[in-house]
Amino acid sequence: MTSQGPDTELPLLIRAARGLEVERTPVWFMRQAGRSLPEYRALREGIPMLQACRTPDLVTEITVQPVRRHGVDAAIFFSDIVVPLAAAGVDLDIVPGVGPVVASPIRDRAAVEALPSLTADQVPDIAQAVRQTVAELDGVPLIGFAGAPFTLASYLVEGGPSRNHEHTKALMHGDPQTWDLLCSKLAAIATTYLRVQIEAGARAVQLFDSWVGALSREDYVRYVQPHSAAVLAGVADLGVPRIHFGVGTGELLTVMGEAGADVVGVDFRVPLDEANARLSGRYPLQGNLDPALLFAPWEPLERSIDAILDAGRAAPGHIFNLGHGVLPDTDPDVITRVVQRVHSRSAR
Ligand code: CP3
Repeated sequence: MTSQGPDTELPLLIRAARGLEVERTPVWFMRQAGRSLPEYRALREGIPMLQACRTPDLVTEITVQPVRRHGVDAAIFFSDIVVPLAAAGVDLDIVPGVGPVVASPIRDRAAVEALPSLTADQVPDIAQAVRQTVAELDGVPLIGFAGAPFTLASYLVEGGPSRNHEHTKALMHGDPQTWDLLCSKLAAIATTYLRVQIEAGARAVQLFDSWVGALSREDYVRYVQPHSAAVLAGVADLGVPRIHFGVGTGELLTVMGEAGADVVGVDFRVPLDEANARLSGRYPLQGNLDPALLFAPWEPLERSIDAILDAGRAAPGHIFNLGHGVLPDTDPDVITRVVQRVHSRSAR
């Protein structure tokens, strides 16, 4: 270690998230655990996704695999944004190649009122999985996560993945009170899920609002921001950095930051120096290599990595990541090489 002082005890990820000095840029990848890894595919063979997510030994092993293989600076807890909904009692499944599919879409007041809540005692396996994963990680920080109210609502209202979110927007604008009730309930579920992970040892959390880029800024501020803010405020007392990320959010970066993020996640569409300017230099940033570039030849890929590291220096802190999740057919050796490049190029 080159720098001195009490903060050097903290993991790189936490220091970067707090805007503290780092000796190199920390790196991890959204969806680093998953189908890009042959050792993951072997473990998951014949085990449905939701069942895997509720089996602590499997969760631990899958979460640790990418840390072992790639030498990333953080692990992301292996779970899914719909796990807390299923644990609360919502009838849903995760269909391979499709995503979450809900048996009865929630589109009216009665269905929203019937949506169950989640208590920590419904997910003892999640707390156990976090505890044993943290032990196994031996100092590498674990990031917990939850889906933000809008993205969860979209799956529940549409009944599955959606391109246009038409039923979701119809409910939002057609019956704002029911919409707000739905999102308040989802915010409470997400908060419980995050608190369980933090109390069991997660050192940071990420709130994924993956599909919020489908909204105008005006709709975001009126219909979504208060609910995401409730989740982020609901874990503030636990003192871990809160990362907030969505896709296609160039026009929403400031209002997502103002929802209460400590770190703003940026997708690949906005360069980090530009994102930092939009955010008035107020937040450490996370991002933002286009996951499709992992399929490009090394030279242009390396140029993109270097450009992101340079642009990231504009911000008060930078955590290197992709601009969205690792694609399933990605060559894992390329991911390892990206980690090595980030580490060597960013060494101070
Ligand atoms: O490494 C990690 O990032 C941790 C694991 C993780 C998963 N889902 C595992 C998973 C995380 C952080 C998520 C979050 C998640 N789930 C989000 C937010 C992040 C994002 O990508 O925007 C969203 C929108 C979902 C909903 C969801 N679940 C989708 C879109 C899919 C993919 C469907 C498919 O098969 O292509 C899932 C299923 C899922 N979640 C898989 C994994 C590893 C694939 C399941 C399988 O292999 O059977």
